Amino acid sequence: MDRIRVRGGNRLTGTIEISGAKNAALPLMVASLLTDEALELTHVPRLADIASLTGILRQHGTDVVPNGENADTGNDGRHLTLQTKEITSTVAPYDLVRKMRASFLVTGPLLARMGEANVSLPGGCAIGSRPVDLHLKGLEALGAEIRLEGGYVHAAAPRGLKGARVSFPFVSVGATENLLMAASLADGTSVLENAAREPEITDLGECLQKMGAKVGGLGTSTITVEGVPRLGGARHQVVADRIETGTFVMAVAITGGEVELIGGRADLIGAVLSVLKASGVEYEETARGLRVARNGARPLPVDVETEPYPGFPTDLQAQLMALLATADGTSHIKESIFENRFMHVPELSRMGANIHVDGQVATVRGVGRLKGAPVMATDLRASVSLILAGLAAEGETTVSRVYHLDRGFERIEEKLGGAGAEIERLKE
Ligand code: UD1
Repeated sequence: MDRIRVRGGNRLTGTIEISGAKNAALPLMVASLLTDEALELTHVPRLADIASLTGILRQHGTDVVPNGENADTGNDGRHLTLQTKEITSTVAPYDLVRKMRASFLVTGPLLARMGEANVSLPGGCAIGSRPVDLHLKGLEALGAEIRLEGGYVHAAAPRGLKGARVSFPFVSVGATENLLMAASLADGTSVLENAAREPEITDLGECLQKMGAKVGGLGTSTITVEGVPRLGGARHQVVADRIETGTFVMAVAITGGEVELIGGRADLIGAVLSVLKASGVEYEETARGLRVARNGARPLPVDVETEPYPGFPTDLQAQLMALLATADGTSHIKESIFENRFMHVPELSRMGANIHVDGQVATVRGVGRLKGAPVMATDLRASVSLILAGLAAEGETTVSRVYHLDRGFERIEEKLGGAGAEIERLKE
């Protein structure tokens, strides 16, 4: 298993390219199940999760063709053409689905196009129990009959799905996406209330519109979908990765320095930037993206709670904690989205951080300088927080189990190394 070694202390300077968003690319790829025509996606990041989903889609009958470099824009994102002329299997098997929770998104499209879906209950990061009850209740509201057996969800709608009002009891990104896709081919109009407003959902909705879907209210908590009998092909560019952008903003914040994030979008991380500004980070939008800088002073402490978009994202909580571990004072971080999403705390503590967790709240007492140590990645976002901590620490940090990192951060050692970090992958 590969490890990543970081020698801390270098300030970051220069430019870092932002990739397309993993969390947008995954549902967009799944949307290709809704049509027999070709869906062309550009700026798809090269990540292990994209490869896993490609495997799942291929066994449903999707032809997934990478077209190499996206020469027309000069961006290094991958261009994928996906076409599902025929769905050859409505079964998404355990061995493929267990690797990644987002694979459960195939349920809605399979059901909408084929009238049935047999999908293993998902896996993904070990960040607490992550049920799919909201997805299932929503699909039931559209008329699906659902049975759980042998670890699989068997969903059937032999006479097709019917538009309906679905009111989510709390905000779920995945359930909103699953229902949005299913409703786009249902008979009649659906209203999704208390829908998630994440930019990745807007991106999916805009791509569905290009495919011929009638979707309204994107970016608000009430999405309406007027079902159509069929959808067609489209070409769509995956939105910039706001989690990667926020992670690199924090990398600059923790090391000091000045970096321009090419393709980074300030408008997608408003809550993050206002927290970081309060902590002493300066930023400005540029023609090419976003420039961030922090002078040598220690970051200031802040109190933050994770929330659904447009609030502070849970996917940046671990990275913020690494930053605040070096702050001049005491900060509090409340994790409101996931239970058990503090697994990075013991690892940061091995590097000298002073963090106390009580239920959903972590109290972070800044210690100034962290110290390099061997640490272990426990989930996707936790693993990158350890890299950030390593960038600021005295001495050497080796992060093991970086396969978690490879699920969601494209060429991170190359990107950080290009901006002056001393970081390398140790192949094993
Ligand atoms: C997506 C993101 C993930 C991010 C999360 C929250 C993708 C591929 N992943 O995950 O990176 O951390 O949003 O911003 O886009 N829940 C239920 N029942 C359900 C569905 C969800 O109880 O049926 C709970 C979850 O356990 C969690 C909360 O709702 O506590 C939010 O989860 P959700 O928004 O669905 O996250 P994902 O779509 O899995």
